[in-house]
Amino acid sequence: MFFHVLTLFPEMIMDGLDTSILGRAMEKGCIRAEAVNIRDYTLDKHQKVDDYTYGGGAGMLMQAQPVYDCTQAVIDRIQKDKLFQEQETASVRVIYVTPQGRVFNQQMAEEFAKEEDLIFLCGHYEGIDERALEEVVTDYVSIGDYVLTGGELPAMVMIDAIARLVPGVLNNDESAMTESFGNGLLEYPQYSRPQVWRKKEVPPVLLSGNHKLIEEWRLEKSIERTKERRPDLYEKWRAEHDHCK
Ligand code: ADE
Repeated sequence: MFFHVLTLFPEMIMDGLDTSILGRAMEKGCIRAEAVNIRDYTLDKHQKVDDYTYGGGAGMLMQAQPVYDCTQAVIDRIQKDKLFQEQETASVRVIYVTPQGRVFNQQMAEEFAKEEDLIFLCGHYEGIDERALEEVVTDYVSIGDYVLTGGELPAMVMIDAIARLVPGVLNNDESAMTESFGNGLLEYPQYSRPQVWRKKEVPPVLLSGNHKLIEEWRLEKSIERTKERRPDLYEKWRAEHDHCK
């Protein structure tokens, strides 16, 4: 999987992705990431990439030309690499990170994880000229109903969630964590040593060694927790399970 992030702040992306599990995955070659500076594509002699909005209103808008040229250059490069490697070329998904998009979730992460290349387009200021978006964007995606100052953090959130689904990125211990959302429920509570801490004991069933009982207890706790903390998810899960009966 190769993540291409188009941004005005490339160092923010590379600093964020270079650390921890994703950094290790890049070293291992399971994933690749590049940050492409949209400013490098402006034809303006002062390197300007933004301007006032027609019709008035506060703030500046990223202009169509640098965004369009930058995206096309990256798409062309991806397609040429594919041809060079004698692979079939397919259209590349261009994700515009915006609060006006579909809200990102685990199912979307799984869908995006199937792609070989993903382009994330990060906006700044008041956004991007609509005409460039119409030309290049295939998916409008938000990370939640709140507004951030730019698309870089949302892009990194999505890349993290997608990358951990790419084979080889997580080791076995870490992969086990996938269970938490994989079944549509929140994860059950977990405990480590010591057995008693501040007079609180680890639930005895977890010390019983009876795997069937432990599994039942964990499912019960997952259901309880989901019902209490995320009634919306619980209802969805219940509807699916009723349907299976
Ligand atoms: N850009 C600004 N806010 C955002 C959000 N909530 N999701 C995605 N992109 C954004």
